[in-house]
Amino acid sequence: MQTDKRPESMERINTPALAEAFIAEQIAALKAQVGKKRVLLALSGGVDSSVVAALLIKAIGKQLVCVHVNHGLLRKGESEQVIDVFCNQMDANLIYVDAVDRFLNKLAGVAEPERKRKIIGEEFIRVFEEEARKLNGVEFLAQGTIYPDILESGPVKAHHNVGGLPEDIRFEGLVEPIKLLFKDEVRVVGKALGLPDSMVFRQPFPGPGLGVRCTGAITRERLALVRESDAILREEFAKNGLAGKVWQYFTVVPDLKSVGVKNGVRCFEHPVIIRAVNTVDAMTATVEPLDWDLLFKITDRILAEVDGVNRVLYDVTPKPTGTIEWE
Ligand code: XMP
Repeated sequence: MQTDKRPESMERINTPALAEAFIAEQIAALKAQVGKKRVLLALSGGVDSSVVAALLIKAIGKQLVCVHVNHGLLRKGESEQVIDVFCNQMDANLIYVDAVDRFLNKLAGVAEPERKRKIIGEEFIRVFEEEARKLNGVEFLAQGTIYPDILESGPVKAHHNVGGLPEDIRFEGLVEPIKLLFKDEVRVVGKALGLPDSMVFRQPFPGPGLGVRCTGAITRERLALVRESDAILREEFAKNGLAGKVWQYFTVVPDLKSVGVKNGVRCFEHPVIIRAVNTVDAMTATVEPLDWDLLFKITDRILAEVDGVNRVLYDVTPKPTGTIEWE
């Protein structure tokens, strides 16, 4: 049984060979812990849950049941990537839940940031519980807990956690194979497990997803603007070698419109705000000094390709006073 304390003697996993050794050790430990029983995992496609899934697939194959909940607040292409990597490439036992309408209906008209977070978190647990119940007695629950989650204080976790443990389902035990690893180690292990770089080295993404980047009451229309503009921003960052360099970058669509002009006609549309920041611990952050030519290129593309946007702004606010997300 693993403890929650990282032994002082534990070597930092920073080479493929060390990752392979960790993987072999974990496969043996997982087989011993689970036996012939089944394990349930909420697979978002984030680094942590993806690494846990890949480890468990190697250890117990189809005894692992992954549930991927599409709550409609994921980035462009994310659910598709989860299906491609885990179903097509790894032949996982994966249940895809299209919960888009359900989440968006619950969120309709809700403008207050904390309430939005709460609804997303609670609804996630409900959907996950329903799926677990349909499976009739899955014995274990797997989680992508990592060492910083254990070290971080309660309130930080509570603020940042979407979901958490299902409340009224009893499991025989928890399976947390990466709980003693730091994020950089999780990435090295993910790479050794054969996960794609776009999954392993991706920027942090909040649990409530695009829901915190569509300020005020979420509408399908503004969600589409966030999703499309974010995809353009990510594409341009990747093309310009910034993808692995800038800590976090995304777009926000606020709940306001302003007057603009398109094809000689006045229009009343939304702005897109670009945010790109660097930080060590997310407690403070500095703004990435983006090249003007790149900003103009991204602006031109968003204005040309995303219907319903008439302005693009660059947020040059450090944290403090601005948080990284707009909410
Ligand atoms: P703020 O906006 O508070 O964000 O400056 C600091 C960092 O935390 C991320 N963030 C979250 N991460 N679940 C997460 O896993 C969440 O609910 C959540 N909310 C914010 C944010 O993207 C930034 O990196």
